[in-house]
Amino acid sequence: MLKACLVCALLTAAALPVATTAAEPAAAGVDAARGLAHGLVEQLGARLQAAIETGGPSGAVGVCAHEAPAIAGELSRRNGTKITRVSLKTRNPLLGTPDAWEQAVLVAFEERLARGEPIAWIEFAEVVREPAGEYLRYMKALPVQALCLGCHGAPESIDPKVRARLQQDYPADRATGYRLGQIRGAISVKQPR
Ligand code: HEC
Repeated sequence: MLKACLVCALLTAAALPVATTAAEPAAAGVDAARGLAHGLVEQLGARLQAAIETGGPSGAVGVCAHEAPAIAGELSRRNGTKITRVSLKTRNPLLGTPDAWEQAVLVAFEERLARGEPIAWIEFAEVVREPAGEYLRYMKALPVQALCLGCHGAPESIDPKVRARLQQDYPADRATGYRLGQIRGAISVKQPR
């Protein structure tokens, strides 16, 4: 069910125009970036779902901890791009800390959600120039769904076994206390041009 929801959310987003700024990215580039983000969400959703069905939430911690970065790494290598998961409240600061551009986009995503924009439509693309070259940058908001609460919900609602594992592995965890429909973070794609 997770998979179906995420996929339909992304497909809905795909039909909509992307907000752009002065440096407008070509539509084909945005479609490719969106496709990569979609691929990561789909693969990850399927793995999480399967792991929770067999081992419960505590059995699925490893999927988010090891498989998510591995899948993102493989997609990045195969596509010559960088695809990551970022958040304003990280669990793993090494992989999940947004850079300045990503922070600004995540803050804007929060404002768009507060103004009533449907979360499934919230994405942003822009071409940015940096010292090392030009990049197409794309981000897609990740909604908090029921499945996420088992590891990102209110601490007292998290299964004690999962909580203990999270406390041990992530002493600086800031990624709990989320409610359904909030933005947990985003998939971020950075493609050299
Ligand atoms: C079984 C537990 C579990 C579930 C369920 C889970 N997560 Fe996570 N999540 C984690 C762990 C563990 C990490 C840290 C991964 C790492 O070490 O890089 C994480 C990290 C993340 C990150 C990367 C940013 C950060 O905080 O470090 C995002 C984004 C994220 N999760 C979103 C979600 C969303 C959206 C859902 C629901 C669709 C979800 N997670 C469900 C355990 C879980």
